[in-house]
Amino acid sequence: GLKIVTIGGGSSYTPELIEGFIKRIKELPVTEIWLVDIEEGREKLEIVGNLAKRMVKKAGIDCEVHLTLDRRKAIKDADFVTTQFRVGQLAARIKDERIPFENGLLGQETNGAGGMFKAFRTIPVILDIVSDIKELAPNAWLINFTNPAGIVTQAVLNYTDFDKIVGLCNIPVHTQMDCASLYEKDVTEFRFQFAGLNHFVWYRVWDKNGNELTADLWEKRQDKKNLGVKNIVSINYDYDQIKDLGMLPCDYHRYYYLQDEMLKEGLKSFKEKGTRGEIVKKVEEELFELYKDENLAEKPKQLEQRGGAYYSDAACELISAIYNDKGIIMAVNTRNKGAVSDLPYDAAVEISSYITADGPIPITFGKFPNAGQRGYIQLMKAMEELVVKAAVTGNYYTALQAFATNPLVPGTTVGRKVLNELLDAHEKYLPQF
Ligand code: NAD
Ligand code: G6P
Ligand code: MN
Ligand code: MN
Repeated sequence: GLKIVTIGGGSSYTPELIEGFIKRIKELPVTEIWLVDIEEGREKLEIVGNLAKRMVKKAGIDCEVHLTLDRRKAIKDADFVTTQFRVGQLAARIKDERIPFENGLLGQETNGAGGMFKAFRTIPVILDIVSDIKELAPNAWLINFTNPAGIVTQAVLNYTDFDKIVGLCNIPVHTQMDCASLYEKDVTEFRFQFAGLNHFVWYRVWDKNGNELTADLWEKRQDKKNLGVKNIVSINYDYDQIKDLGMLPCDYHRYYYLQDEMLKEGLKSFKEKGTRGEIVKKVEEELFELYKDENLAEKPKQLEQRGGAYYSDAACELISAIYNDKGIIMAVNTRNKGAVSDLPYDAAVEISSYITADGPIPITFGKFPNAGQRGYIQLMKAMEELVVKAAVTGNYYTALQAFATNPLVPGTTVGRKVLNELLDAHEKYLPQF
C-alpha cells in the first residue's frame, strides 16, 4: 500500500485530509499516514492525530496513522509527501498582518509585505524538505499547500533539481463550487480554464456543449455576498473593468483591482477585531476543543469557517489522479513550459492541467486576451522571482527590490520601514538574513 506523509500534521485541516483518504480508499490504497510536526506543535499533533486515528478506526480501513516529530524517519520510502506547515505558527502570521496594518499598508497572509515574509520563512524549510525527499524517498511526489503556495513552488522548481512538486490551492476548487451553486447544477456540468499565478488566477467557463458562460456567470455573480472564501470580504469588482478583461478574476484580485477599498476595509476590521490571524486563532481553539472529544470520529462542520476549506479534499483527488494516471483536469501550480506565452518557460504558474502519472501537463493557454492581464502578471512574476531570490540568498537589497516591485507596497520609504520591522520581528525564523 501507499505511504503518505503530511508535514505540519498538527494543522486543524488534517481531519479533512483523512476524510479525503477514507473516501477514496478503494481507488487509493493508503496503508500508512505519517503526521509530522515539530516540538512547538506537539500538543496540536497529539489532539488532531488522535482524531485521525479514531476516524480511520471508525471507517474500518486497513491503515495505520503514525504521529512523529522525526521528519526524516517519516519521509523514508514515502510515496507522497504533503506539506501544510506554518513556520513560526499563527504568532508569525499575526505579525505579518499586524506590522503592515500599523504602517497603513494591507496586512494579509499571502499578499503584500506579509506574504513576502511568509515566503522568506518558508522557503529555507521547503528546500530542506526537498533534500530529505531526494535522499530518502526519491520517487515520492511533493504536494505543497504551504503558502504562499505559488512562490514556494517557484522556489523548488528554480533552486533545486527536484521536479516532482505540485502546488495546490483551494481557490480554483471554491470558484468552481460557487459557479455550480449559482447555476444549481453539478460541478461536472462545466468546463473551466484557469490561468495565472496562485492567488492571482483568472478563468473562463463553458457548459458541456462548449458554449461559453463566462459573461453570463459574471452577470450571475453580481451582488451575491455568499460567494468566495471565508477570509476575504466580497466587495464587488468594477463590473465593466472585469467585463473588458474577457476572463473572471479570483477572490484575491480584489487586493489589487480594489486596492483602496480593500485597504480601508482591512484597516477598519483590524481596528475593530484585530488581524485575520487573531480571528483564526479563536476558530482554531474552538476546533481543537471539539477534536479532543473522544466520541468525535469525523471532520466537524465548523472547519468550514476556515478560508482553506476543501483544499485537503482537492489534495486527495490530486494524489489519486497521479497514482491512477487519471488524466483529469485540475488547476495546479506547476512549471509553465510555454503554456502561458506571456510568462517565462520555467515560471511556476497556476493553470488547468491534465493530471497524469507523470504529474501535471499544463494545458496550452496562449496569450492573455488583455494587455492589462499581461502587464500585471509579468510584474507579479518578477516580484515573485525577487522574493525567492531574497529568501535563498538573504540579500537585504534583493528583499528591498521585491518590496519596491510589489504593487501593495507604495514606495520604498514606507517599504524599507516595514521591511526592517518585519526582519526584526521574525529574526528567529530568518537564519538566511
Ligand atoms: P498551522 O498554524 O496550524 O500550522 C500547521 C502546523 O505546522 C503546526 O502544527 C506547526 O507546529 C507546524 N510546523 C511549523 N513549522 C514546522 C516545520 N518546520 N516542520 C513541520 N511542521 C511545522 O497552519 P494552518 O492554518 O493549518 O495552515 C497550514 C499551512 O497551509 C499554512 O502555510 C497555510 O498558509 C497553508 N494553507 C494553504 C491553503 C492553500 O490554499 N494552499 C489553504 C489553507 C492553508
Ligand atoms: C484561502 C486560501 C488559502 C489560505 C486560506 C486562509 O482559502 O486559498 O491559501 O491559507 O484561505 O484561511 P484562514 O482561515 O487561515 O484565514
Ligand atoms: Mn490558497
Ligand atoms: Mn463559499
